[in-house]
Amino acid sequence: MSPHFSSETENVNHPSKWELDYQRGTAGWDMGTPTPVFQRLLREGALEFSPGRMLVPGAGRGHDAREFARHGFDVVAVDFAREAVADMRALMDDDTRHEILHHDLFQLPQEFDGAFDYVLEYTCFCAIHPTRRAEYADVVSRVLKRGGKYIALAFPLGDSSPSFGMTNGPPFAVNADELIALMEQRGMKLLRRKVPRDSIKPRKGREELLMMEKMVK
Ligand SMILES: C[S@@+](CC[C@H](N)C(=O)[O-])C[C@H]1O[C@@H](n2cnc3c(N)ncnc32)[C@H](O)[C@@H]1O
Repeated sequence: MSPHFSSETENVNHPSKWELDYQRGTAGWDMGTPTPVFQRLLREGALEFSPGRMLVPGAGRGHDAREFARHGFDVVAVDFAREAVADMRALMDDDTRHEILHHDLFQLPQEFDGAFDYVLEYTCFCAIHPTRRAEYADVVSRVLKRGGKYIALAFPLGDSSPSFGMTNGPPFAVNADELIALMEQRGMKLLRRKVPRDSIKPRKGREELLMMEKMVK
């Protein structure tokens, strides 16, 4: 084990840590509804993108995946916590196009390579161990098609330097510039970024919406 992290922190790499949160009712991140920022984008058509195949890594109970599926996106929602997957399956609408995978996002099947028009990120990047962030960025760029979009609501914004954010989590602080740089290193281009006004109260000013496009094959 790395000397820099407690065993509790190390546990984020294992589904059991997350399964316990779902079992004990300590999944405090779960709002029980889709994210208002995404709902607004969908309502206003502000995403400017037509529905396509979308991967939602670390989807939890799938509230956002469900919302995009309702808007015609062909959603593949992935989580490695058994309880989250069971709840997601129970909550998903039968008449939408979706697939729910009980899987580790770092071990996605090869057939996912270049198979997605979108990757939707919310509270997954801050949940994985900071030492795995480059690996996460590899997954995102690997599954996206050329021209595919990465839609990320980065949360919680903060200092993610080794002396601070990397040891305090989950959630581990997210530096939006750092996240953008990770993606740019993999051939992604920033289309826009904005701190939304309609984040839920405790997250107001602490999240930033990023849209990036994969420019390479
Ligand atoms: C903070 S929760 C957020 C869930 C959801 N995005 C939401 O907003 O409600 C993080 C989720 O990521 C999942 N997760 C963490 N690491 C994962 C991994 N390596 N593979 C798949 N899922 C993972 C956890 O099980 C948990 O459900």
